[in-house]
Amino acid sequence: MSADAMLNVKDLADEVKEDVIRWRRHLHENPELSFQEEKTAQFIYDTLASFGNLELSRPTKTSVMARLIGNQPGKVLAIRADMDALPIQEENTFEFASKNPGVMHACGHDGHTAMLLGTAKVLSQLASEIKGEVRFFFQHAEELFPGGAEEMVQAGVMDGVDLVIGTHLWSPIEKGKVGISYGPMMAAPDTFHITVKGKGGHAALPHDTIDSIAIAAQVVTNLQHIVSRNTDPLDNLVVSVTQFIGGTTHNVIPGSVELCGTVRSFDAKLREAVPGKMEQIVKGITSAHGASYDFKYVNGYRPVINDEQVTKVLEETVLEVFGEEALDLMRPNMGGEDFSAFQQKAPGAFFYVGAGNREMGITYPHHHARFTIDEDALEIGVKMFLHATFKFLN
Ligand code: NI
Repeated sequence: MSADAMLNVKDLADEVKEDVIRWRRHLHENPELSFQEEKTAQFIYDTLASFGNLELSRPTKTSVMARLIGNQPGKVLAIRADMDALPIQEENTFEFASKNPGVMHACGHDGHTAMLLGTAKVLSQLASEIKGEVRFFFQHAEELFPGGAEEMVQAGVMDGVDLVIGTHLWSPIEKGKVGISYGPMMAAPDTFHITVKGKGGHAALPHDTIDSIAIAAQVVTNLQHIVSRNTDPLDNLVVSVTQFIGGTTHNVIPGSVELCGTVRSFDAKLREAVPGKMEQIVKGITSAHGASYDFKYVNGYRPVINDEQVTKVLEETVLEVFGEEALDLMRPNMGGEDFSAFQQKAPGAFFYVGAGNREMGITYPHHHARFTIDEDALEIGVKMFLHATFKFLN
């Protein structure tokens, strides 16, 4: 990039800062659930249309893609932001709190969309400086399996893409930090449903029943052995039972109990082995006590595994633009992200933009009714996208 363009990026990023905050607040006030982001997608489309220089399309009903074709040939970089909200009643009281009862931007996707709109606005004014193409993915439905990313990939948005990047605002790390991970970053989030089927009856006559509560409790306890006793301690695995549903009152032994939960892993072989280990335990415990069972296991998103070269460029971007103190080389976490669907088609990397601020009391976790971000983090995300774009393409 020329020195002039470098100056331009800095000025334009400063200029767009107020817009980005305004867009984020508008989206925050008007959240929509996964696969229902109709007004959100229209807002994105109309805002992009006002920039000029972009080719716009709607790959799926509620997603938007913008293409910026540079004046010189080169690589194709895709940048992704998600846009959906969660079924949570917001408890924040600021003026742009959700106007949609029971729906809230409690994960920061409003900020992701606003940052990518800001990036598109700046780059649309620098088309003459760009070699190749930048593709902006405004993705629906990250929060709800099977996820919007896979649908967009099916619609062909990744055709011809050489590399893909994306980010998540992250309140556990302070504003000013950028989190980078090499290799595995986020886990594959699978789910399971188990029904323990016994025989109901009077609680005073347990010998005439097959007690599904007592048997299901054994199942829960024994499932803990998969991580603690059957898995290499150096492999990463989570097996969490999160729902235990059974019974109606104090003197009735219920006929069945439902168990639900999640399994998180990185390694494909380990992931493949877990359902079999689980079913073996469920089968063994239930049959030992004369009960039967249903077992259903659903594979969720693939794990986010960052490409080394792409990650290296992101790390260099942090160091060059924000300095060494901004870099947070992070351990992986067991959360899930459907950004991984794009990584199946081209090398890619995901990073975190710190959005917490202890002094300002911005400490609530993601998916909490009082979640919010330090809005100064938005500018950091925009600058990451802008500078990384020029490092990747020019
Ligand atoms: Ni999220």
